Amino acid sequence: MQKDFHAANDRVRGDESQLQQAFMNLLLNAAEAMGNHGQLWVATELFGERRLKIFIRDTGPGIATENLTRLFEPFFTTKRHGTGLGLAICQRVAEEHLGGIEVQSELGHGSTFIITLPVE
Ligand SMILES: Nc1ncnc2c1ncn2[C@@H]1O[C@H](COP(=O)(O)OP(=O)(O)O)[C@@H](O)[C@H]1O
Ligand SMILES: [Mg+2]
Repeated sequence: MQKDFHAANDRVRGDESQLQQAFMNLLLNAAEAMGNHGQLWVATELFGERRLKIFIRDTGPGIATENLTRLFEPFFTTKRHGTGLGLAICQRVAEEHLGGIEVQSELGHGSTFIITLPVE
């Protein structure tokens, strides 16, 4: 795993276990997308004084365009035994902390999930 923690301040006020679960969901999805081969990249960056972005990027297969808009819907899954709840939970947790989540993906090259949260 490559880490690039550039945010000078990354203190977020909020529910530690909810935030932990949100990040676990993203890391688990990245690991599932990559299987045994791939590179995980986690980075933080501050935008202005107050906006922290956390990037989680994998070199998995990426996400088909027609699925990009549906990823955050509860129960949307492309996995045989998936629940489709991981990203819905991430989005809810991010929004409850006055932030958000977005995704960028290039089919065949990987996916990047970006969580934005306000810092203290
Ligand atoms: N890192 C990723 N790479 C490729 N596809 C992803 C990634 N993360 C999520 N997805 C897609 O989004 C869907 C929904 O993810 P999620 O809500 O965590 O549910 P689940 O993991 O149970 O399928 C997955 O089934 C998959 O199609
Ligand atoms: Mg998941």
